[in-house]
Amino acid sequence: MLENDYINNNFKITLEKGAFKKKRNHSLINIEEFWAEEAKKLVWYKQWDKILEWNPPFAKWFVGGLLNASVNCLDKHVESENKNKVALFWEGDNEETRILTYYQLYQKVNQFSNALKSLGVSKGDRVTIYLTMTPELLIAMLACSRIGAIHNIIFSGFSSQALADRVNDAQSKIIVTADRGFRRGKIVELKKIVDQTIDDLPSIQNVIVFKRSSNSIKMGKQDVWWHDIIKNQKSYCKPQQVESSHPLFILYTSGTTGKPKGVVHGTGGYLTHLYSTAKWVFDFNKQDIFFCTADIGWITGHSYIVYAPLMHGVTELIYEGTPDYPKPDRYWSLVEKYGVTILYTTPTALRMYMRYGNEIPHSFDLSSLRLLGTVGEPINPEVWMWYFTNIGKEKCAIVDTWWQTETGGIMVSHCTGIEILSMKPGSAMFPIPGIDLGIVNEENKYLSKNQKGYLVIKKPWPGMLQTLWKNNKKYRNNYWKKFENKLCYFTGDYATMDNESYFWLLGRSDDVIKISGHRLGSTELESTFVSHKSVAEAAVISKPNNTKGESIIAFIVLRKGYFESEKLHRELIKHLRKKIGPIATPDEIHFVNKLPKTRSGKIMRRLLKSIVIGVPTGDTTTLEDGTSLEEIQKIYNEINKK
Ligand code: PRX
Repeated sequence: MLENDYINNNFKITLEKGAFKKKRNHSLINIEEFWAEEAKKLVWYKQWDKILEWNPPFAKWFVGGLLNASVNCLDKHVESENKNKVALFWEGDNEETRILTYYQLYQKVNQFSNALKSLGVSKGDRVTIYLTMTPELLIAMLACSRIGAIHNIIFSGFSSQALADRVNDAQSKIIVTADRGFRRGKIVELKKIVDQTIDDLPSIQNVIVFKRSSNSIKMGKQDVWWHDIIKNQKSYCKPQQVESSHPLFILYTSGTTGKPKGVVHGTGGYLTHLYSTAKWVFDFNKQDIFFCTADIGWITGHSYIVYAPLMHGVTELIYEGTPDYPKPDRYWSLVEKYGVTILYTTPTALRMYMRYGNEIPHSFDLSSLRLLGTVGEPINPEVWMWYFTNIGKEKCAIVDTWWQTETGGIMVSHCTGIEILSMKPGSAMFPIPGIDLGIVNEENKYLSKNQKGYLVIKKPWPGMLQTLWKNNKKYRNNYWKKFENKLCYFTGDYATMDNESYFWLLGRSDDVIKISGHRLGSTELESTFVSHKSVAEAAVISKPNNTKGESIIAFIVLRKGYFESEKLHRELIKHLRKKIGPIATPDEIHFVNKLPKTRSGKIMRRLLKSIVIGVPTGDTTTLEDGTSLEEIQKIYNEINKK
C-alpha cells in the first residue's frame, strides 16, 4: 500500500485547518438535519413537511416539498446576473461548434417543453432520448423535467436490442433522436437504429428527429422533425411543480442479472445531493470552465454535466467526440482552446494518453487548469501520478470520486471546496459529509482498518435511488438483502480503509464488468451470445486490460451442427456489437465443449477467471465435471506459450 507515498500539498489556498473533519463529524450527529440545511440551497415552491420518510429500504426525502428541476437549472439564472453568461461551449466530433448562454438555453428548453406537450406528453410520462452529445440532449432532458415527464436516456453507442429493451421496460411514449450523430469521424445512424426496432416498440407514439445533415432520410408516420414541432411554440412554458420524490429520470444500468435495471431517481433529494457535492468536491466558482468528459448517456453525465453545473450557473464545455480522434490530443487541445479550469475524466482516458507519451500534453498550454478529477473505476497510482505531474504540473489537487448510478452523486472524494488535504495516489480519500459508510465481511461483521471487505452504506442518503422501475422486489434483493440484518445498502464493491481512515476502492465483488468505466453484466453478455443461433451456452468473464481497465473474455459451447471457425468468430463479435453496441466487443472468444459448473448448474466464473489471469483455482469441490477446467487450462497454456 502507498501509505508513505503522500502528496503533501503546498497549494496556495489557506483554509480552516480541520474544516473537513469538523463538517463531517457535525453531519453525522444528525444526518437528516444536515441534509435539510443543504436542501434549503435549492429553489422550492413549497418547503417540505418532513425531511425523511424511511420505510426500509424505501426512502423519500423532503416529503411534501414542491420544486422543479429546470427552474433550479435555468430560471434561477435567467432572473440573475447569469442571464447572458455562457452555459455551454459545445464542440462536435466534426469540429462544429456552438455556444449557448443561460438565456438561450432557457428559451430552447421552454420551446421544446411546449413541443412535448403538444404531442400529449404530461407529468409522469416517459420520454426516451437517444442522441449523441449535442446541446439537444440537454435541451430535451431539461424540457422533460420542466413538464414533469421522466427522461430515459439511452447511450448513443447502444444498438437496437439495447434500445428496445429499455424503451419497452420504461413504456416510453416518445423517442427523441437525430437523423445522425458523429463519432470518430463516422456517422452514427441513430434514426436508422430506431427504425430497425420501431415495430417492436408498441408504447411509442412519436419519434422526434433532430436534423443535423442535409441528406434526406425516411420519415415514417409517427416521425416528426424537431424543427417543425418547435416552430410555433412559445418561448415560455409554465414549469410543473412536482413533489420532491417525483421521478426525474430512469437510467438503465447493468447488474448481475440478465436484463438491465431501471434505476429511478427522484427530484428534491437527488438535486440536493448534486448541489452540495459539486460545491464540496469541485468548489465551483464564477470563473470556472468545467469539462466533464463523460457521456450524458451514463450517470456521470446526468449528474455532473447536466444538473450539478447548471444549478451552480457554471460555464461548461461539452464535447461530442472521443479523446483520440482525429489525434490523441483532443482533451489537451480543448483545455487550451477554452481555458478549462476543471477537468473531470476517467482512468481509461488517462491510461490511453499515457501510452502516447508526455510530449503531446506538454505541447499544449494547460495552465488554466486548477483541479483534476477522475471517476468510474479505480485509478492506478502510476496513472494518478502521471495526471498530477504532467497535466496538473503538481499544482492541481486531484479528486478521485467514487460513486455509482444508484447513489446518484459522489459518495467518497477529496472535498477541495471544504479543505484541501494530503492526497494518496489511488485512494478516493474520505466519505463526503452526510454519508455513513462501512466495510463488512461475508459474516456480516464490520471490519477494522486495513481489512478488505464489502463497502456498504449505513444510512439513507438524498441522492439514493428510489427503486428499480416497476420492480421493488428486484430493488430489495439486489441492494438490501445481502446485509439485511444490518439494514445496509450493498454497493457490490470491495474496499479497505487504511490507518488514517483513507478509503481505497478495490473493484467489483460481483459479476459486473467495467469496460472503459462502463458497466456491463456478465449475464447480460452471456444471454446475448446465447441469442445467436449457433450458441448453446456461454460464460463471460473479464481480464485486466492496460487501457480499458477490463476486457471481455467469452467461453462458448456451440449447438449441434455448428463448428468453430474464423467466420463464426467474426459473426459472434458482430452479433454482440449489433445487439448491445461496440462497447460489448469481446477481446477473446474461446470455443469449448463444456463450461465449468456446480452440481446445481451454476457457471463457476471464479474458476474461469483464475485460469485466465493465471492464479491457482482454489477450491473446486463443488465442480460437477473437472474435464471442463482441464480443457480451458489447455487453451490458456497454449496462449501463454505464444
Ligand atoms: O465499481 C465502482 C466503480 O464504478 C461502479 C459504478 O459504476 P456506474 O454505476 O457505471 O457509475 C460510474 C460513475 C459514477 C462502482 O460500483 N467506480 C466508480 N467510481 C470509482 C469506481 N471505482 C473506484 N474508484 C472510483 N473513483
